[in-house]
Amino acid sequence: MRKPMIAGNWKMYKTAGQAVFLVQDLAMLVKDVKDVEILVCPPCIALKSVSTVIEVDKLRIKLGAQNVYWEEEGAFTGEISPVMLKDLRVDYVIAGHSERRHIFGETNEMVNKKLRAVLAHGMKSILCVGETLDEREEEKTADIIKEQIFEGLAGVSFEEMKDVVMAYEPVWAIGTGLTATPEQANDVIGDIRGLVGSLYNEEIAMDIRILYGGSVKPGNIAELMAEPEIDGALVGGASLNAESFAKIVKYEKVEE
Ligand code: PGA
Repeated sequence: MRKPMIAGNWKMYKTAGQAVFLVQDLAMLVKDVKDVEILVCPPCIALKSVSTVIEVDKLRIKLGAQNVYWEEEGAFTGEISPVMLKDLRVDYVIAGHSERRHIFGETNEMVNKKLRAVLAHGMKSILCVGETLDEREEEKTADIIKEQIFEGLAGVSFEEMKDVVMAYEPVWAIGTGLTATPEQANDVIGDIRGLVGSLYNEEIAMDIRILYGGSVKPGNIAELMAEPEIDGALVGGASLNAESFAKIVKYEKVEE
């Protein structure tokens, strides 16, 4: 059985102080949840303070980073290395988020280097894939996703795949209020599982967790989680508020 995961990507929101309050509020609201892996990904400048709260208060919440550079150290002004993230007890690092791809020009090759660096340093990674609206309208979704997966996972060993989570995030659904229908998301996630099976094997395909991301809210999480292929969610906007994120973690049916 794949353990569901609900991950909050705080993007460039929350100062370090606000991040501490948010994780503490969230922890109180989800303290009884045991069967869902909960992850928060604060901005990198808040990682240390959130990591300390998680450790001192013994929270059952995992810590994620939104980005990383692939070298261990060196003259790379402004970058953060996997060694530095590991030192802060970061559990997961997101690789290939569509904002990194589209705003900051990250290629599949760069995403792959980041993913491999994260795994090589004993952390886990969430590899994000997804098509733009133009690509969907031109019926290129399958090709784009295949390329992102094949190039993104290049050189990742069978053994390392246990530390990889994937997220399907159609770019047109991120921060727009448009959500893929649960069926649309389930179909593409099923295809992603098939591609992982063709690259690795059936067991790895069945074990890997694949999340959906893009305008996930308390009002749509229950129907998304009811789909057999969807193992959780990567949540942006709705993870910035403890109450709404807690509702998503509990995937209660909420009328909006
Ligand atoms: P959203 O963002 O939930 O605000 O659409 C999702 C994401 O970018 O991971």
